[in-house]
Amino acid sequence: MPAKVASIFEKDKRLIADATKIRFFPLVVDRADGTRITDVEGKQYLDFTSAWALANTGYSNSRMRAALIEQLNKSTFTGLVSGLHEPAVELAQRLIDLTPGDFEKKVWFGLSGSDANETVGRLLPAATGKRRIVSFIGGYHGTTGTSLNMSAHIAMTSDIGGGNIVKVPYPHPYRPPFGEAPIECAEKAIRFLSDYIFKTICPPDDVAAIIVEAVQSDGGDIVPPPDFLPMLEALCRKHNIYLVLDEVKVGMGRTGEMFAFQHADVVPDVVVLGKSLGGGLPLSAVVGPRKLVDSGFSLFTATGNALCCTAGLATINTIEQDHLIGKARTVGDYLHTKLQTLRTDHRLIGDVRGLGMFQGVELVKDHTSKEPAAIEAAKVVYRAFELGLLVFYVGMFSNVLEITPPLIMTEAEVDEGIDILDQALHDVAAGRVSDELIAPFAGW
Ligand SMILES: Cc1ncc(COP(=O)(O)O)c(C=O)c1O
Repeated sequence: MPAKVASIFEKDKRLIADATKIRFFPLVVDRADGTRITDVEGKQYLDFTSAWALANTGYSNSRMRAALIEQLNKSTFTGLVSGLHEPAVELAQRLIDLTPGDFEKKVWFGLSGSDANETVGRLLPAATGKRRIVSFIGGYHGTTGTSLNMSAHIAMTSDIGGGNIVKVPYPHPYRPPFGEAPIECAEKAIRFLSDYIFKTICPPDDVAAIIVEAVQSDGGDIVPPPDFLPMLEALCRKHNIYLVLDEVKVGMGRTGEMFAFQHADVVPDVVVLGKSLGGGLPLSAVVGPRKLVDSGFSLFTATGNALCCTAGLATINTIEQDHLIGKARTVGDYLHTKLQTLRTDHRLIGDVRGLGMFQGVELVKDHTSKEPAAIEAAKVVYRAFELGLLVFYVGMFSNVLEITPPLIMTEAEVDEGIDILDQALHDVAAGRVSDELIAPFAGW
């Protein structure tokens, strides 16, 4: 490790809480621009992460920078709780216009995906008179009380509580939960919910909402069969249950639609946004029925501040004016094809799946048993870093390489990243990355 990086890492170890860390390699960032990140030693990396799908419009986007500087010159902080400013009302209108649904909507603003989902969970009982929520195994909805209890990712299921939030299997075509054929897994998952869960521990007339990711991200970059969301929507309508789509990670153009649920043509009651909405600044939003977001009390003092709302507007403007949704579709298709080609060359790759600039590469020790190759995933990610590419891994078994580049990435840059991944996969298969090298980086 270079001396400056080692010195900063040593301080990090002593001074910064481990509870905030998911570390894969020793990266100390100095600056970032477009799709490239430069560390404190001047080494440049191509970014296949968007910092956990935050930087959809790229780093230091010029449109974003200009808008933020203009707002900063007015004031470094303008809140929303007991005052008002134009960026908040303008952003609320834009979000209402962007989300489908012919009903009276309003927008709640917060600072993170966690607080937005927390708010949905907190306000639901008052708005509906019902106490239960259904969520999906593998889901990641946040790290605060209710949002944590909605989550069912392996990294967050050891906390106590959440007895009124029932977790059911997510239809995973590569690892079908009931061992059925991939195409049937959505139908089986819905039937399990309606014919078993609803008839045993979770009466549907006491279910306020079902919260779901249209494509599951941290759970393993899973794309469910196309009939899953429409069937879930029908179930919600039948029992008068709110359908809540958590688009915190995959919304804002990433999958080649503004929102990932739009691939399935459903109309959610509630859409939850965060991460890339603020382009890296703390901003989240719940776009939902007036009845829900007007029920109760849920705020943070810095909620919906003018700087973050300005970032939200700049994100939407950039996505629209730079045609980033179309780019996510075409460059994403190109990326998917390239990853499929890698699969033919590397036995370690069991599955490649994704939509647009949201792709997962599942590593397995054996194609028949599908035994997860978790250590190998950690080594590939580490080796790619050494070779100049940033990529993370996710999944219930920590074995899925997550490829979520900024939506501004070009096909030439995709080629560059794929070449590095190819080399990293070869090096790991050849035993060139030791266990000791990755030991300090536990990932998750
Ligand atoms: C789908 C989803 N929802 C919510 C969250 C929580 O967002 P935050 O970490 O900003 O609180 C995440 C974070 O990864 C997420 O992926």
